Amino acid sequence: MKEQMSLEFLNSYTAASEAFYFSPGRVNLIGEHIDYNGGMVLPVAINLGTYALVRPRTDTKVRLKSLNFESLGVLSFDLNSIQYDATLDWANYPMGVLYTLQSKGYQTTFGFDLLFYGDLPNGAGLSSSASIEVLMATIANDYYELGLSGVEIAKLCQLSENQFNGVNCGIMDQFSIAMGKKDHAIMLNCDTLDYTYVPATLGDYRIVIINTNKKRGLVDSEYNQRRTECETAFGLLKSNYKKRPITSLCDMTPKEFIEVSEVLEASSVYKRAIHAIQENFRTKSSKAELTDGNLLAFGEWMYSSHESLKNSFEVSCYELDTVVELSRKERGVIGARMTGAGFGGCAIALVHKDHIADYETNISKQYKALTGIDASFYVARISGGTARVE
Ligand code: GLA
Repeated sequence: MKEQMSLEFLNSYTAASEAFYFSPGRVNLIGEHIDYNGGMVLPVAINLGTYALVRPRTDTKVRLKSLNFESLGVLSFDLNSIQYDATLDWANYPMGVLYTLQSKGYQTTFGFDLLFYGDLPNGAGLSSSASIEVLMATIANDYYELGLSGVEIAKLCQLSENQFNGVNCGIMDQFSIAMGKKDHAIMLNCDTLDYTYVPATLGDYRIVIINTNKKRGLVDSEYNQRRTECETAFGLLKSNYKKRPITSLCDMTPKEFIEVSEVLEASSVYKRAIHAIQENFRTKSSKAELTDGNLLAFGEWMYSSHESLKNSFEVSCYELDTVVELSRKERGVIGARMTGAGFGGCAIALVHKDHIADYETNISKQYKALTGIDASFYVARISGGTARVE
């Protein structure tokens, strides 16, 4: 990988690169669509991600090329005049990060030549955008000697995606990518950003990622709509629950919700709220099961999370549901669910290592017959966070 990229770097920029970085993607084991509701999430950083070769420049120019978008060639901008530019396509993510650093008062005194390559499928719900944002922020942090912590990098990248790229995402993706730890899941409280590393003792089971290869239509508008509905639910619950102040939707327990839920009536807002509050409960319970190595129970929580995302939060789709339903019937599978924002993209399944080959063969065949689409499979390893590598 590095050798091939080094050659390409030399070809593109007629000078050798100086440093090599890796930034993971993420899968969320459980706790979906609740990071922006102050809930608990349980993501892992994975060994698929984005690589970068870097060479600092003496002027303020930034040149970028991605081997995933070779036809776009070398893109460039100047640090003194950054603004969103649709013609720069994917480069708006790293550009946004440098812009956001500047807007926070950090000095970005020199530019870079950068070559990227990612083995994450793009737009498939494995956070390719957060991966490249945190990568750019980590490179800037190292070269400009900014002394930012991983948590600060995650917050900055979320802000950049919200404000520069106009996607109203929560903190989970950037946090898990910046703060990932090998063989550990991160139990993150998205309200306080308190977190603990949970050993992912999966024994003979592996996390298999199944890309439905269903393109995620409408994801941004539907995502923002879910956020608005959750805010509406929170406003109504907060003003009607009198026993104690409620700080976020996920601050309510399922029991408290039942006491006041009639204020939401039988609306879609009610369905969004019940998902968020119960998903938070499921995540807390799952963490205990994972810690105790009780994987069968963990897998059951994954299935019920999927049901809720399908029926109450309504962010699944036929292709994701098909993968989950087919997975349930396969030998050696103990849990499956969609992961990420939904509306297409990827599902994950916990599969016994001796059954992975059969699992892939069987699901491929049946999924193709039912949807007409070829699925792709990846066996994920749990990786550390974004860092310079040798
Ligand atoms: C996307 C967002 C995250 C999170 C998930 C759903 O990945 O970027 O912040 O909301 O969807 O859990």
